[in-house]
Amino acid sequence: MTHSTNFWAVVPAAGVGKRMNADRPKQYLELAGKTVIEQTLTRLLQAEVFQGIAVAISEQDPYWPELEISKHESVLTAPGGKERADSVLSGLKAIRADASDDDWVLVHDAARPCLTTSDIHLLIDSLKDDPVGGILALSSHDTLKDVQGKRITGTLDRTHIWRALTPQMFRYGMLKQALEEAEGNPAVTDEASALELQGLQPKIVEGRPDNIKITRPEDLALAVFYLNQHLEGL
Ligand code: C5P
Repeated sequence: MTHSTNFWAVVPAAGVGKRMNADRPKQYLELAGKTVIEQTLTRLLQAEVFQGIAVAISEQDPYWPELEISKHESVLTAPGGKERADSVLSGLKAIRADASDDDWVLVHDAARPCLTTSDIHLLIDSLKDDPVGGILALSSHDTLKDVQGKRITGTLDRTHIWRALTPQMFRYGMLKQALEEAEGNPAVTDEASALELQGLQPKIVEGRPDNIKITRPEDLALAVFYLNQHLEGL
């Protein structure tokens, strides 16, 4: 019998989102009639590709158990960690019993609720035969400056600069090993950076610019606009 490769999603959702200045973590703010995290998980569930979705949640989080989606048969809860990478590793451990090392894992921020099914499928179709895996990313349109103490010390060559989005898609075994070996390294702010430390070169797949990360209060209004556009098929 040939083994078929499964796809899993891991959603780090244990951050506090200080830059939102809100009374609760940003993933529980209201966005178009649901919470941000419900919008995000709904997008992942609608893709109908995942064996399961592991969501890393802070142990002091009173909001998550109240949401119906936390009891969805495809959704598993894992304890959140100190840094984003610790939360992702915790999510990977939660699916250890059912995932094989060759299975693909798509790690997606809870704070990116405007992900489209088309971008999920684009990422999977572009990478499913790749030896390393890769990430959704956007090329940089702005000129980028190196700054120290509010003084510009240089201009980066933007033809080589891309902004890393999520999902980021890697094989279960490679990703787990890379994150374990990078544990505590502050330079690991996404999954690709952990793989880069292993000497690997993850691939770039150009994603949609509306896959924004909710970071500041004004991002919520922009996300509502994008979600409405998606409903209209734009
Ligand atoms: O803070 P930032 O927006 O970069 O966080 C990206 C994602 O990582 C968010 O969905 C956040 O909830 C998650 N996170 C986490 N555990 C942490 C820190 C952040 O799951 N310790």
